Amino acid sequence: MVFSSGNKIPVVDLGLHDRHEILKHILKASEEYGFFQVINHGVSKELMDETLNIFKEFHAMPAEEKIRESSRDPNGGCRLYTSREINNKDIVQFWRDTLRHLCPSSQDSMQFLPQKPAKYREVVAKYTQEIRRMGLEILELLCEGLGLDPKYCSGGLSESPLLLGHHYPPCPEPSLTLGAPKHRDPNLVTILLQEKDINSLQVFKDGEWIVVEPIPYAFVVNIGLMLQVISNGRLIGAEHRVVTNSEFARTTVAYFIRPTSKQIIEPAKSLISSGAGPCWEKNFKG
Ligand code: OGA
Ligand code: NI
Repeated sequence: MVFSSGNKIPVVDLGLHDRHEILKHILKASEEYGFFQVINHGVSKELMDETLNIFKEFHAMPAEEKIRESSRDPNGGCRLYTSREINNKDIVQFWRDTLRHLCPSSQDSMQFLPQKPAKYREVVAKYTQEIRRMGLEILELLCEGLGLDPKYCSGGLSESPLLLGHHYPPCPEPSLTLGAPKHRDPNLVTILLQEKDINSLQVFKDGEWIVVEPIPYAFVVNIGLMLQVISNGRLIGAEHRVVTNSEFARTTVAYFIRPTSKQIIEPAKSLISSGAGPCWEKNFKG
């Protein structure tokens, strides 16, 4: 496998005054890479730090407590996944623990979220609200750039977001396993908060893995397969993976913009040109 030399994923400045410029940059990045980082996005550094810290604190709790705090929803809307503790030597074990739950949309849904660390609910409610605002703005720019109604994805298509708090502990043998295997995200758009100074996320492009070097206080945004389908193959749901290291633990928080289960995902009618028909699989091999 070839490792990247100088290729970097694009950086988009959301603070530019010219909305059309922002739209052009986002569209180009999504067509060529399916990944970009955003700066000047309006989410405060304090909230970003607080959010990463609350997930670090969660994952530092004893196992029994983590299990208890993530098991309140009888419908499984909140879950803890761990791959390292599977007691089966024959299968590949990825080096990651994940707390995964629906985003709180009401006081009612809050009752299923962890109550420990003490500020968990408060911080997560604030964070998901802010990220939703930014995520919907990015979706509007993408839809507009595709020639669709800017609100094309604003209803049911983005109404059931998920939050994933990943924790990648140091791995004693990094050459033997990954933090997350090569995959494409199954949703519309993912917004990832990652730690400074640890180069672990890689994107596959043109036969090589490109490292997503963390820019302090930027978010990583990537296109998921559903938006690839809706855009009829114009935007790329790129393959990516997470590598391990033996020195540092790494925490990330992924916000998955996702439809309700009733939605049908199909190419937007206006993007199926009469001759070509649906061609959303064009970048999809495997
Ligand atoms: C994901 C993902 C990357 C990371 O949640 O789908 O790819 O660095 N996360 O945690
Ligand atoms: Ni992913």
